[in-house]
Amino acid sequence: MMTVRRSTTSSTTFAWIVSICMVGVSHAQYMNCTPCDIPLSEEAGAKVIGAMNCSDWEYDAMLDSKDSEICHLNRVAGVAFCGCEVPDHVTETCDLCPNGSVDVNLDRELPDVPGVTCADILNVPKVDGDQSCSLLQAKYAFWCDCPKVVPTCTLCPTGAFPPKPDKGLPFDRNLYCGDIATEFLVSTPKQCQELKSDIPVDLASYCECPGTTPPETCSLCPDGYFVNEYVVVENDLTCADIHQIARFSTNETVCEIMEDVHGKCCSVDEGWTAADGNDTPAESSSSNVVRWSSVLQIMILGSSLMLSLRVL
Ligand SMILES: *[C@@H]1O[C@H](CO)[C@@H](O)[C@H](O)[C@H]1NC(C)=O
Ligand SMILES: *[C@@H]1O[C@H](CO)[C@@H](O)[C@H](O)[C@H]1NC(C)=O
Ligand SMILES: *[C@@H]1O[C@H](CO)[C@@H](O)[C@H](O)[C@H]1NC(C)=O
Repeated sequence: MMTVRRSTTSSTTFAWIVSICMVGVSHAQYMNCTPCDIPLSEEAGAKVIGAMNCSDWEYDAMLDSKDSEICHLNRVAGVAFCGCEVPDHVTETCDLCPNGSVDVNLDRELPDVPGVTCADILNVPKVDGDQSCSLLQAKYAFWCDCPKVVPTCTLCPTGAFPPKPDKGLPFDRNLYCGDIATEFLVSTPKQCQELKSDIPVDLASYCECPGTTPPETCSLCPDGYFVNEYVVVENDLTCADIHQIARFSTNETVCEIMEDVHGKCCSVDEGWTAADGNDTPAESSSSNVVRWSSVLQIMILGSSLMLSLRVL
């Protein structure tokens, strides 16, 4: 655990009062991040970091937990870009590249912090010690072209960038395979794990990574039916989108929920002649509406997770 300016010297009493006040507070276990050891002045708050001003940044950053990766990164960002004071004991800076090389692509912008380039993060203070530096390296050493560095996290199992970066995701038209692949490239180890486990769709095969095939865990329509591709199911989600989600789903619960829209999305294929082509699609009932909403929620969860990772 790092020592912050506030808990040194004569401010022990302060720490003691704070600890008493925390007792009985429902989230006593959850220590919030202190992005800036001394809260930002209004002047400092007006500065811009990425897509927001430092004041909004500080507010958002305080919602994370004190020990989270994102908190350590934000504390570095605060000192580097919002004028937060460097904690007293911090004298060293982080190496962006594992061997201290500064032979990087200086002009390259960080994908998740608009306006900030690799040059800007070459010499940031080691705010929380080695933890700050290892997170910074995990996220950006590869992105900034440090010599001989391989990415710590990739969407495609081979490490390749997906061949069709412009392919949109079925559950969020504003997200593309290229964005997701980039998100993986600049993720911390924890974010990498979350990206891999929390999304109920096999994004690697959806994005046509070399050597991958769709899991085909489920199919929207039974044999002998075709998909009414242009029918809108909910919001702007069409049967074609749901067909894609079904093909690439990795969660059987999602498959079950798919059955709720058979009535709407599947039509008898007159040309179907196979002997076993007598499956009848289940009718949608009113109770299914509830279940259907939950599949949407899973999808929205997946995409909001990714959006939330866009903050440094
Ligand atoms: C920061 O931006 C928000 C809008 O997102 C604005 O309300 C606020 O006044 C700004 N803060 C400063 C200090 O400029
Ligand atoms: C370290 O950096 C130098 C460039 O300064 C490079 O030539 C060398 O290959 C790097 N070594 C490793 C292990 O990354
Ligand atoms: C599948 O999704 C359901 C509903 O969100 C969830 O409860 C379950 O844990 C998921 N299963 C797997 C294997 O991820």
